Amino acid sequence: MCGIIGCVGRGTETLDTLVEGLGTLEYRGYDSAGVALVDDDGLSVVKAAGELSALRERLADRALSGTVGIGHTRWSTHGPPTDENAHPHLDCTGRVAVVHNGIIENYQSLRADLEATGHEFRSDTDTEVIPHLVGKRLADGDTPSAAFRGAVDRLEGSYAVAAVVAGSRRLFAARNDSPLVVGLGGDEPTLDTADPAFIASDVPAFREHTPHVVYLDDGEFVTLDDGITVTDETGTRVRKAVETVGWDPEQTGKSGYEHFMLKEIHEQPRALRQCLSGRVDELRGAADLDLDLTAPTGVQFVAAGTSYHASLYGAELFRRAGVPAQAFLASEYATSPPPLGADLVVGVTQSGETADTLSALREAARRGAETLAVTNTVSSTADRECDHTLLIRSGPEIGVAATKTFAGQLAALNLLTLGTVEDVRSRRAVLPALRDLPGDVQAVLDSSVASTVAETYRDAAAYFFIGRGLQFPVALEGALKLKEISYEHAEGFAAGELKHGPLALVQADTPVFAVVLGDGERAHKTVGNIKEVEARDAPVVAVTDGQSDAHLYADHVLEVPETHPRVAALLANVQLQLVAYYIADGLGRPIDKPRNLAKSVTVE
Ligand code: F6R
Repeated sequence: MCGIIGCVGRGTETLDTLVEGLGTLEYRGYDSAGVALVDDDGLSVVKAAGELSALRERLADRALSGTVGIGHTRWSTHGPPTDENAHPHLDCTGRVAVVHNGIIENYQSLRADLEATGHEFRSDTDTEVIPHLVGKRLADGDTPSAAFRGAVDRLEGSYAVAAVVAGSRRLFAARNDSPLVVGLGGDEPTLDTADPAFIASDVPAFREHTPHVVYLDDGEFVTLDDGITVTDETGTRVRKAVETVGWDPEQTGKSGYEHFMLKEIHEQPRALRQCLSGRVDELRGAADLDLDLTAPTGVQFVAAGTSYHASLYGAELFRRAGVPAQAFLASEYATSPPPLGADLVVGVTQSGETADTLSALREAARRGAETLAVTNTVSSTADRECDHTLLIRSGPEIGVAATKTFAGQLAALNLLTLGTVEDVRSRRAVLPALRDLPGDVQAVLDSSVASTVAETYRDAAAYFFIGRGLQFPVALEGALKLKEISYEHAEGFAAGELKHGPLALVQADTPVFAVVLGDGERAHKTVGNIKEVEARDAPVVAVTDGQSDAHLYADHVLEVPETHPRVAALLANVQLQLVAYYIADGLGRPIDKPRNLAKSVTVE
C-alpha cells in the first residue's frame, strides 16, 4: 500500500533522503511515486507513474534544492496509476503539497463543496481534497498549522497524511487508522532536540538515519520543525515515549540473495530460533509465553491471506486440545452476525496494520471478547489495541510474499496452545519437535530439490495443492504463494474435496502437490487421493516425511525430516515456498514486488 516519507533538517541531502526512503518502502507495493520540496523560492513537485526509476529519471532533469520535503509511493485506489494521480497533490495556488495513505470516505461531498467555490481539481483521487482544504483555510487567514488541522478535522475515513506549505520550514502530519511513525535524529534525541526529524509509514524508510522512533496514535497530529510537537485531537500537547528499534539497517538489505523472498526463506531457521527462544522449557514440559491470559473456553481467529492460513492451523490446534475454535476471514467477520461465542479473539497479522483484521478485532472487542494480536510488529496498531500480544519475532520481512512470518505464526500458535490449553502429554511430545524445528528447516533448505521440480513443471497449465487436517492450510498457502509471485493459476484444496469438483480440472499438464505427513488415517486417505489424481494422468509431487506410501505413487518427492506431524507442516511449507520461488524466478517475474499486491494492506 502507499508509502510516506518526509523529513526536516537534512539540508542539501533532503531529496536523496526522500528518494532513498521511498526505495525502502517499495516492498509495500506501489504504481507511481513523487516528491515535494520547499525552498526559499517556493514549492516544487516531481512525480511519475510507474517504478521509482521513472521518478529518478524525471528528477535527473531538475535541480531541486528544498530542505523540507515529503515523498510518496502510491498504490492506486481512486483512479488509475497516472502522473496526475500520483502524489504529492497540490492546492489551486501550488502552495500546499500533500501525501496520503488510506481512503477519504467523504471526499465526494468535500470535492463538490470545493468545486462549488471555484476549486479546480486535476486528479481522480480522494486525496486531492486535502490540499484544497488546506489552501482554502490559508486563503481565509489561518496559519499553516491551523489550516492543516482544520482540513484534517473535515476528513472521514482512514488516513496517514503529511503536508508541506511554501514559505514554511515545517512539516505537518496526522493519522487515523493508517500507520505513521516519527523518526528522531541526533544523539539520544528527545522530542525537543530531534534534528533531523522524519515521518514515514514504516521505520525502514528512515532507519538508516536513526533507530529512535515515536509511534503516533489515531487522532494525533505532529509538527516537525526544530524538534517534534505531537498533539491530540483537542490540540493538547502529548508527551510521547521515544522507543529504539531493535534491528539494524543491514537486516533490511538482500545480503547477496537475488531477492528478498529467497533471503527470507533462508532466514527461517534464525527467525524460528528467535521466536522459540526462552519460550520452550523442555525440563518442565512447559511453554513460557509471558502472557497474562487465562485458558480460553472458545477461540475465534480473524486474519487475511497467509495469516488466515496460519489461523486455520491455529484453530485446528485448539480444537485438537478440546477447545472449540474457528478461523474467520477478517473482511467477512466484522460485517457478519456474531458467530458462536468465544472468550478470546486472536488477530493473526504479521504487519499488525491490516485494515480488515483491525476492524474485525475492534468488532470482537465491542462484542466483549478479550483480544490477542499474534504479530511481527512491535507497536503496530494491532499490538497497541489488543489486550494481549504474542510477538512472532521474525525480524523485518521485505518481500511482499509472506514467508518467514508465516513460519513464525505457525510456531507461535503452537506455543499459544501449548502454553494455554494443552496437557502435559502433548507438551512433552511437541516441545522437542519445536526445539529441533530450526535445524530441521535448515536441513530442508540444504537438501531441497525444489528448483529441479520447479524447472520440470514451470510451463504447466495450472497447479493444485492438496492436504488434510493441518496439511490443508499448508496446501492453501502453497497455492497462494505460487499464484501471487508467478501469476500462474494455482489452487489449494482439502484433499478430500478434490473429487467433489476440482478433479474435473486435473489433467496431464496440471501437477498436483500433495502434502502427506505421518502415517495416520489422514495420510492414508491422502495417498488414496494421490491415486485418483494419477489415474487422470496428472503428475504428482509428494511433499512427505516418508512415513506413508505417498512416495511410491509420486512422480517427484520433496522430502522433509521426520518429526511431530504438526511441526512437519512447517517443513512441508518451506518446500512449497521454494517451489513457488523457483517457478516464479524461472518465469522471470518481479518476485519481491508482484503486480497489484501490497505488503501492508491498510484499506478495507
Ligand atoms: C501473502 C501475504 C498476504 C498477507 C495478508 C495479511 O503472501 O503476505 O496474504 O498475509 O495481506 O497481512 P498481515 O499478516 O500483515 O495482516
